[in-house]
Amino acid sequence: MLDPGNRKWFAAETASLPSARATAILSLTVNARHSGQSSLPASLSNQDTEPSLLADARALSAHCYADPAFHCFDQEAVFARSWQLAGHAWELGEPGDHVVTEIAGRPIIVVRGNDGMLRGFFNVCKHRAGPLALANGNARQLQCKYHGWTYTLEGQLRAAHEMQEARGFDMSCIHLDPVRVAEWQGLVFAAVDDPGVTLEQVLAGIRERIAPVDLTGLQFHTRVAYEMACNWKVYADNYLEGYHLPHVHPGLNRLLDYRRYATHTAEWYSWQQSPVSGGREPYAGGEAQYYFVFPNLMLNILPGRLQTNLVVPVAHNHCRVLFDYYYSDTESEAARALIAEDLRFSDEVQREDIFICERVQQGLESGAYQAGRLSPKREAGVHHFQELVRRAYRHALDNQ
Ligand code: FES
Ligand SMILES: [Fe+2]
Repeated sequence: MLDPGNRKWFAAETASLPSARATAILSLTVNARHSGQSSLPASLSNQDTEPSLLADARALSAHCYADPAFHCFDQEAVFARSWQLAGHAWELGEPGDHVVTEIAGRPIIVVRGNDGMLRGFFNVCKHRAGPLALANGNARQLQCKYHGWTYTLEGQLRAAHEMQEARGFDMSCIHLDPVRVAEWQGLVFAAVDDPGVTLEQVLAGIRERIAPVDLTGLQFHTRVAYEMACNWKVYADNYLEGYHLPHVHPGLNRLLDYRRYATHTAEWYSWQQSPVSGGREPYAGGEAQYYFVFPNLMLNILPGRLQTNLVVPVAHNHCRVLFDYYYSDTESEAARALIAEDLRFSDEVQREDIFICERVQQGLESGAYQAGRLSPKREAGVHHFQELVRRAYRHALDNQ
């Protein structure tokens, strides 16, 4: 578990990634960016791009999860073109508050300006590409960590020492590259390329559907990060169906009513609902609601509790999932006991999911798997997600 005010670990872990493979992936990404196109994996096939109806559907092909080229392709075709959770309103309340993150491998900073506006920038200095911030925090100005140039909170270069002899050097023309930022229910999102849709459009209807639950009234409590040896889409697929409940999660299956477990879809998200009938705290009564927002955000809602899961691709066979826990009451003794039990039980369920997802990744890489059929009754959410993936791949193909 991590100190909620500190995401240094995130910057430190991602900074330590470049292995030979990560370096190769990085150079491929950069080349794709220079050309303004996604590099198409050689293994990309018609089955990866053609839509199908649920009753006819097959799962995505094994190479979409097992081919290393799909890591870079997913970053460009899916993640660069979607709204990504970047931070939380509680971290960005005051002028100078900022969060750092990565979207599709690009370093991003979101900062609250002196005018109260939230802005997002590439966390990339205009001198020689140094970072403006390495961790979340508060600063009166953004100072590059390489040679110390400083920028206003609005991204304008304000001071660059020892540059007097640089002919034609005009500070007023130098500004950090902006990215789109939008906020919803206390969650702050950013997008590095044009997603072609507003954040409001992506999330339309969720606020009404979860009422009277109001996510803005909840307090942040804890972040837990899990590393797992599987493609990010394996984790998403697994999240999107309750089909595996009786086999993978005996404890959770006793709490939820499998027969009344239902899946619904909207354009950019799907949601699963189940009455909670196990009778033990903190899950006594009420309804569990599991929202999946394409491509990688999960909102797990119980009465008085929100858990967000953000799935971050690290390599074709490695993803990181960040769990943030919010509660309506974090102070009372009774609440603390319920939270401790919630954290324990969620961790148990997550470890069961990691176990099966890592074995599925092995299966996908085995050479023995062809795209299998989906259960229309139980895998509508998987189909919905995979159709959005195919749509993103089609878009990349059409824009070559
Ligand atoms: S790279 Fe930022 S000051 Fe040199
Ligand atoms: Fe699961």
